[in-house]
Amino acid sequence: MKVAIIGAGNVGAMTASRIVDDDLADVVLMDIVPGLAKGKALDISDARPVTGSSAGIIGTESSRDLKGSDIVVITAGLARKPGMSRDDLLQKNAAILKDISSQIKKYCGSAIVIVVTNPLDAMTYIVMKETGIDPKKVIGMAGVLDSARFLNIASEKAKNVEQDKIFMMGSHGDSMVAINRSKKLSDDIFSESSERARKRGAEIVEHLKTGSAYFSPSASVFAMVRAVLKDEQKTLCASAYLEGQYGENDIYIGVPVKLGASGVKEIIEIKLSGSEKAAFRNSAQSIRESIKKLT
Ligand code: NAI
Ligand code: 2OP
Repeated sequence: MKVAIIGAGNVGAMTASRIVDDDLADVVLMDIVPGLAKGKALDISDARPVTGSSAGIIGTESSRDLKGSDIVVITAGLARKPGMSRDDLLQKNAAILKDISSQIKKYCGSAIVIVVTNPLDAMTYIVMKETGIDPKKVIGMAGVLDSARFLNIASEKAKNVEQDKIFMMGSHGDSMVAINRSKKLSDDIFSESSERARKRGAEIVEHLKTGSAYFSPSASVFAMVRAVLKDEQKTLCASAYLEGQYGENDIYIGVPVKLGASGVKEIIEIKLSGSEKAAFRNSAQSIRESIKKLT
């Protein structure tokens, strides 16, 4: 199997490394900066005798190398700097993703596409519209990461928090919606840890100063790539295209989905409380506003 990663920056290169180290698939790493993807691909390939992997990896600047890809991961674009919101990236990254979409359409229009570039939900929508690929095969990565952050922070405060009972839905932004179905998490710990998880991306940017998170984001992309390649039919949160589910239409937003070889096999509709419904609607509204700025 072949996975193309467009954007050989922090998230893209780390994702490539995880896939090759794990011997999961052959990787094509692509970037517009001359030499960047080639250099990183050579470096990743040199680890194979250490990890015991025989997966192939090449670095390239040419979109022709996308040909034959089963999955395309888009990590190209600008990342946040201190003080920047994900929405500050909207216009510039939309232009980059429109260009990349035309290359995907030309060389691998039947691939499954996992979008990572921010602002995530709006960018995933743009890629689906511009490539014309079946919406079930275009998916945004955010819910795995936001839910992992929430779980990680909550687990530092409470014991035995059940992994699949607390998670994040909604937009990958300030209005993401924390869900608690665990009896082991008190209301106080729930609100404290969900609030910190909501701001975790910005907290990391404030420390790094020159870029944003990439270890946990690349681990999250890896989990999605593996779910598709191994047809795991795994339930996880991702930005998916809604056609009536949760009362929303024609929008990409974070929801629980079943992910497998054909992409999103099922959108899982959990029962939301009144306040969760209102928060989800508010989150959808913020995504619509972003998309509106682009049209
Ligand atoms: P980075 O700046 O390290 O890497 C981005 C790379 O994209 C650069 O190497 C750049 O040369 C390349 N690039 C730009 N235009 C391109 C084009 N047209 N074709 C190919 N490559 C191109 O950024 P990083 O940290 O890897 O983040 C990438 C994106 O992912 C950002 O938009 C960031 O905000 C987003 N992100 C999203 C997360 C999520 O949960 N959805 C988590 C972490 C990052
Ligand atoms: C994050 O949440 C920047 O969206 C990225 O870390």
